[in-house]
Amino acid sequence: MNFLSLIESKREGKILAPEQIQEIIHAFTAGKIPDYQMSAMLMAIFFRGLNTAETTALTLAMRDSGDVLKFPKDKRPLVDKHSTGGIGDKVSLPLAPLLACLGFRVPMISGRGLGITGGTLDKLDSIPGFKTLLPAAQITKLVQHVGCVICGQTDTMVPADKKIYALRDASGTVPSIQLITASILSKKLAENLDALILDVKFGCAAFMQTKADARKLAKAMAALGNECGTNTRAILTDMNTPLGRAAGNWLEVKESVECLEGNGPLDLLELVVDSAAHLLVQTKKSKSLAAARALATECLQSGAPRKKWDEMIVAQGADLKAFNRKLALDSTAKVAVEVKSDKAGYISKCDARIIGEVIRDLGGGRLTKESAINFDVGVDCIAKPGERVEKSAILCRVHAGDLEPMKVAVARLKMAFEISARKISAAPLIQEIIG
Ligand code: URA
Repeated sequence: MNFLSLIESKREGKILAPEQIQEIIHAFTAGKIPDYQMSAMLMAIFFRGLNTAETTALTLAMRDSGDVLKFPKDKRPLVDKHSTGGIGDKVSLPLAPLLACLGFRVPMISGRGLGITGGTLDKLDSIPGFKTLLPAAQITKLVQHVGCVICGQTDTMVPADKKIYALRDASGTVPSIQLITASILSKKLAENLDALILDVKFGCAAFMQTKADARKLAKAMAALGNECGTNTRAILTDMNTPLGRAAGNWLEVKESVECLEGNGPLDLLELVVDSAAHLLVQTKKSKSLAAARALATECLQSGAPRKKWDEMIVAQGADLKAFNRKLALDSTAKVAVEVKSDKAGYISKCDARIIGEVIRDLGGGRLTKESAINFDVGVDCIAKPGERVEKSAILCRVHAGDLEPMKVAVARLKMAFEISARKISAAPLIQEIIG
């Protein structure tokens, strides 16, 4: 293969054949293409784009760069959800056990935080003893026996994405719709799913800041997922405000358990129930979204998913006694203080970006790949748009590792909230369904 001439072709806007794309991914994964040439190709793709056939070929070649999970034949469909990431987005945690109780198998391969957005694996790492890295054989075994597993990608799954993502991160080529589509779907297709629901977020704390860009990404991913044989739908959801009332790794685990116990915030509940409902319709287990929502809600209220959660975390190594002791604590951070409103009115803004940045800077996220995470820091008791607050009411509570960072966080968090004298109605959380 003359890789230089392929870079030149793409630079000139020509179309690459599927076989050429397969050869590129195969050679790059095998270490036969230097990073500087692959970066040049990624930049050419960034500017020239890929058509549907090229994106499909790239996605499938990336999926096939490593192991694809294999499951025994079973009447329970294999399903998963992927979110493009946000602040307080803990949906995967209650959703996996709910889906298992609804008769699905859920091999939920998840990621770590990216930028200010939280990562499911970082949240789960806050559970004493919980293991997020499992060999492929154990993933399959747990999916078959427990019904759900939430863990990281094994070293041998989609190695091409790991290498390409690192180059994109260092070469300014992350925000390409086709490269994002191939990256996300190659990993989901390696789970061998029957159905997939994608939560594509837009807003100030999302990867896609505008609804129009989120729609483009959602359409591209839904079309490609379906073309590759996985029934795929996407929902567009608002990420200008954090999801739920808690953000930060351990605080989100706590709120997820509250959701499983019927006490979670309504927006989180809505997204968990709707994600499950779409998968019920996609797999033809329910005839309509309304019937599917009723089924998912009834299942959640039965308490079975709460028990399934304990079964799942114990199967993945958690110390249940230590977990329950931790759950009973009001805060696990060194200091926790309330941020109060200096006037009465209606919350008109609760800026998810500011809250995400504050949590990252408290140590709850990463500034570099090597940063260690403080699982206990975060923000909870968050007042949401549309809610009435009186003077001195709690806008949120910050959990910090020390007094000084706590003071800085409080000052910044005050800027995250705007209060209006006029009654405000909150924007709908789920704004569109695609696919
Ligand atoms: N998440 C991924 O896994 N890949 C991307 O390219 C962007 C977000």
